[in-house]
Amino acid sequence: MAVGIFDSGLGGLTVLNAAQKHLPDVDFLYYADSAHAPYGVRDAEDIYQLTRKAVNELWSRGCALVILACNTASAAALRRMQEEGVPEGKRVLGVFVPLIEALTERQWGDNSPPREVAVKHVALFATPATVSSRAFQRELAFRAIGVDVEAQACGGVVDAIEDGDMILAEALVRSHVDALKRKMPEPQAAILGCTHYPLMAESFQKALGDDVQVFSQGDLVAASLGDYLQRHPGMMGTGEGGFLTTGKPDVVSDRATQFLRRQIRFQAA
Ligand code: DGL
Repeated sequence: MAVGIFDSGLGGLTVLNAAQKHLPDVDFLYYADSAHAPYGVRDAEDIYQLTRKAVNELWSRGCALVILACNTASAAALRRMQEEGVPEGKRVLGVFVPLIEALTERQWGDNSPPREVAVKHVALFATPATVSSRAFQRELAFRAIGVDVEAQACGGVVDAIEDGDMILAEALVRSHVDALKRKMPEPQAAILGCTHYPLMAESFQKALGDDVQVFSQGDLVAASLGDYLQRHPGMMGTGEGGFLTTGKPDVVSDRATQFLRRQIRFQAA
């Protein structure tokens, strides 16, 4: 009985980690499309094709529910996959909505009209593809009015993390935060709109300053997944848990072990 978790690479581990803590009885089958990471510099068609292939693989291995623990895939592929129709008994969900519900202080599934919220100036850090999709702003507009969002495309950060070059990743985070602050000098909140970025959460917080509330997706997505599974117990699936990668299993396992500080063993997808 496993729930599928998909990312282009290692970033989705930040969601997996929170989900495992929140739901210790649920097995998870994690799929990292490491051979094709990063997705954030690809066009929407490419991201859609890669995401659909990975999700089909997770469904065929017995997962009923697949979480796209990747904002880039959620922005570029999720709506199209859902509109085209998914096989009977299967579901695919993204990671935007729980984050936006937290930012706009909404309860799960509150579909009331958009209203004013406390936070007025929001910095969004995400991949180039997520930023250019404007999917975050679109979802936010359904729920809140009067929120000014300044988006910063953080080129290079995902590559540096995938390569395990945390010094480069930190330098890039600092320079992207500086660039954002030139456009919005005093953000009240910052959204880490890429699941890789919580691995650099301290660097973002330090560069932004203590006054800025930083939102990450791990715990928010885990809580909303728990809620979903309680209401849809049939979506636990039938397959086994584990870790799959389209990249080199040894290399990916070492990086994952370093990030999660526990032994992780990937197998070839
Ligand atoms: N973790 C993915 C996200 O949340 C990374 C995207 C990429 O591969 O560039 O957007």
